[in-house]
Amino acid sequence: MCGIVGAVAERNVVEILLEGLKRLEYRGYDSAGVALLNDEGDLKRIREVGKVRKLTEAVERDGAPGSTGIAHTRWATHGGVTEENAHPHFSSERVAVVHNGIIENYVPLRKSLSSQGYTFTSDTDTETIAHVVHSMLDNGNSLLEAVKKAVTHFTGAYGTVVIDKADPDKMVVARSGSPLVIGLGLGENFVASDQLALLPVTRRFIFLEEGDVAEVTRRTVTIYDKSGERVEREVVESTIEHDAGDKAGYRHYMLKEIYEQPAVIRNTLQDRIDNLHNVDTLFGHGAENILKQVNHIQIIACGTSYHAGMTARYWLEEYAGVSCSVEIASEFRYRKSVVHENSLLVTISQSGETADTLAALRLAKELGYMSALTICNVPGSSLVRESDLAFMTLAGAEIGVASTKAFTTQLTAFLMLTLSIGKFNGLHEETEQKIIRAIKTLPGKIEEALGTAGVIENLAEEFADKHHSLFLGRGAQYPIAMEGALKLKEISYIHAEAYASGELKHGPLALIDEEMPVIVVAPNDELLEKLKSNVEEVRARGGIMYVFADVDAHFESDDTLRVINIPHCEDITAPIVYTVPLQLLSYYVALIKGTDVDQPRNLAKSVTVE
Ligand code: G6P
Repeated sequence: MCGIVGAVAERNVVEILLEGLKRLEYRGYDSAGVALLNDEGDLKRIREVGKVRKLTEAVERDGAPGSTGIAHTRWATHGGVTEENAHPHFSSERVAVVHNGIIENYVPLRKSLSSQGYTFTSDTDTETIAHVVHSMLDNGNSLLEAVKKAVTHFTGAYGTVVIDKADPDKMVVARSGSPLVIGLGLGENFVASDQLALLPVTRRFIFLEEGDVAEVTRRTVTIYDKSGERVEREVVESTIEHDAGDKAGYRHYMLKEIYEQPAVIRNTLQDRIDNLHNVDTLFGHGAENILKQVNHIQIIACGTSYHAGMTARYWLEEYAGVSCSVEIASEFRYRKSVVHENSLLVTISQSGETADTLAALRLAKELGYMSALTICNVPGSSLVRESDLAFMTLAGAEIGVASTKAFTTQLTAFLMLTLSIGKFNGLHEETEQKIIRAIKTLPGKIEEALGTAGVIENLAEEFADKHHSLFLGRGAQYPIAMEGALKLKEISYIHAEAYASGELKHGPLALIDEEMPVIVVAPNDELLEKLKSNVEEVRARGGIMYVFADVDAHFESDDTLRVINIPHCEDITAPIVYTVPLQLLSYYVALIKGTDVDQPRNLAKSVTVE
């Protein structure tokens, strides 16, 4: 979602800010802006609706250099997509603010500030921050004190950076509910909502914690915690590759990330799969004692990560012998639920910052779960820091909004969790060894599955003019059908629904005709014969089917049925392997439709507001 970059330096920071915004583009946004303070104390702002490229052109045309600056990509929540609503927001040409999150009490604040004479020029909640800070400055507070006092007036979520024309060479930043990271340079310092934005200028970061307020100058970073106490926070060296934002010759990040899957699964497995019995090393200190006692697992996630949890449930119940429920975070957090005895909460998240998942974790702590484990791709993210245990997927930065490699590494992580819990619940050694062998072949199987790209690219032609589609799967492939449908709708905008094929007769059969392609996920497992009956039901109603099938499943292509052969794999790893051709299908359909594959309309990569 929205992105923040800020810098205070001796040099002109324009390039740093614009490059930072470019690196945050993947998160999804609809407008962008920058505010710069120069040595003479002039404050200049440029904002544009649309891409960062447009903002860059405007800055080249009308910009002025500045050694202190803040910049933002906005994903509209309060107020339409207009230049007036784009950040930074000003208060009387003195205070400039960028903000991620939502100030929920902005309506009464707006009323009160208007009655004090502050003029609003946008429909945003953010503008209230600028005016509240300004009013505190007018009361004689320093910028730091003004921000510290201002945040006590806000309810909701914020990651915000404030600069003051009367006090240049300084930024004051505050975090509550929206992540912020400070980047440390030599004689210059930076701030951003995501470390990726700052990798060209530094690798040393301080992750702010909830309630922190910090004053950042060229040479100093002073942090105060939520009770106002001065605190030191750990400086972390980033391990993310500097060029994580490169497409490496691929036309889109999404395609690059699809092709990276064998390598990132290998990374995620490396040293771990042969070390499964060392549970504390895999999941964190004390994990063995917790996993030993687990009676129930509650999985919570959103979007694609939720589908990983849905798949994992089949594995955890069948092989680890532990009961498991899976729920969407935004539902879980707002209903009364029952906590089973010795229940482990597992959150899954690529970003580690999804607002609903984070809120669900915080709620679970109050509800008395035995422990909380997160499966996450971003070290230092809020979910990792606030969970008792963590398993890091090593997918590397995922830039495409539609998640691909993060999903398959999450599934890989769940296989390791299944084995780790299974060993305490009587998982037979022979079965364990069989699963380990299957997991080890995964990268190679995915490489083979990528070999279907040419066939799928040709098939995609037949989808491009369709408006609806139906995805079918059974067992652990049902969530994979859901994920396939999600990918297709996210990037090609074709309406796609997924059903457990046993449910066909209970409604979706009514939709079948030649205008609604039916995509079937059909590995050669114990449910194959049942799935074949479902295929016949569709065929009898004139449906056109695309069956992703094991070579040994003996489906024959004909006028109404296209078979895409997928390499044979073990039942347990099949959901991961079958995900890949479905990702390719949505990619090639989107290519034909000419959509913005990496940044699909209206969507954001990291959903940091409710
Ligand atoms: C957004 C993204 C999805 C992602 C979901 C959950 O909707 O566009 O790709 O699956 O958030 O994100 P998380 O970072 O928690 O996995």
